[in-house]
Amino acid sequence: MAIRKAKGVSRRGVLKGAAAVTALSAVPTGWAIAQKRPLKIGLMLPYSGTYAKLGENITYGVEMVIAEKGGKLGGREVELIKLDDESKPELAPQNADRLVKRDQVDVLIGTVHSGVQMGIHRVVRESGTLTIIPNAGNVAITRELCARNVYRASFSNWQPAYGIGLAAGKKGYKRGIWVSWDYAAGVESCEGFKQGLEEQGGTFVDFLKLPFPQTNFQPLLAQIPGLEVDIVGAFFAGGGAVQFVKEYAAAGLKAPLCGNGFLTEGTLQAQGEAAEGIETALHYGDGLDNPKNIAFRKAFLEKAGREADVYAVQGYDSAQLLAIGLEAVNGDIEDEENLHKALENAKIDSPRGPMAMSPSHEVIHNMYLRKVTNGQNKVIGIAAEQLADPGTGCKMT
Ligand code: BEZ
Repeated sequence: MAIRKAKGVSRRGVLKGAAAVTALSAVPTGWAIAQKRPLKIGLMLPYSGTYAKLGENITYGVEMVIAEKGGKLGGREVELIKLDDESKPELAPQNADRLVKRDQVDVLIGTVHSGVQMGIHRVVRESGTLTIIPNAGNVAITRELCARNVYRASFSNWQPAYGIGLAAGKKGYKRGIWVSWDYAAGVESCEGFKQGLEEQGGTFVDFLKLPFPQTNFQPLLAQIPGLEVDIVGAFFAGGGAVQFVKEYAAAGLKAPLCGNGFLTEGTLQAQGEAAEGIETALHYGDGLDNPKNIAFRKAFLEKAGREADVYAVQGYDSAQLLAIGLEAVNGDIEDEENLHKALENAKIDSPRGPMAMSPSHEVIHNMYLRKVTNGQNKVIGIAAEQLADPGTGCKMT
């Protein structure tokens, strides 16, 4: 496996031409594939800023699958091209263009931030580049803007938040608010929480928000006592989540804090005592005792020198999904019909448990209920079993 950093003519036409030559020459497929150049995979992820650790763990997860398969996917050598998207939506179209047009990647794996994902989406819907999303959950991507060449291996912003809303309502909480950054991930997770809570008879009271990636939480925390709520839900991730959980604990508020699982994911060591007892819903939990997870966590610790988290799992599953597609076509990524058939029907043995693709290319998976116990996100139940995003408005072409 070769790795290089991105330095930037739609490749689609060039590839289509190459495929046509191969078809005409009637050369046996196996021979033709063996002659193929390495498959270029662009990793467009945050390697700096508040989501830097998320990008790193996704990368480790991708690299683990490639290593397990001897450096090849579908029998083809792999070249990784890494690009730091800085979680900056305004840079996203030009960054995605660099990978697709200048570097001519065959596959794009990216990204973490929902706003950046929209920038990538505009580019790859046009170029047709096979794209696998290893985190960003913005719902439009697998709803009204769904695209044949775009798959998500992570979650939709609605799923975990709906799970924790349901769980909070079932526990008897009556009045809840949501606190988060004011961008797609925050807004859409707020909608999920509200829906889950209301379905269980609760009342959604307010959405307190601040711009991404600001961490001036005190004015928001100061409003909470006046809202007379009995549960506070939140979406923050990475460095922002560490700070929010600490400040929430220090504020001594009456209402317990809950959230979608990103609030306590990959952050527990830094959050310390402040995180103990927080309940969240997510498609992963530290102690899941399926054989795949046990082996995955051991291998991740050996590779990264730190414990695995959901981001590592999503990177791993993005590459597992890609491997399934490429293996079905013996590395011939131009065989789009068979490639997509394999991707759409993929059943993945994930560290998160069973995972399948919905018709809108979204993940169907369990939403686990977790509670922070002795510094771990312990699974204490299932908030929603094999949950599919509604995929509203998706017309797959
Ligand atoms: C998002 O922007 O979609 C996102 C970022 C971090 C964690 C979860 C979701």
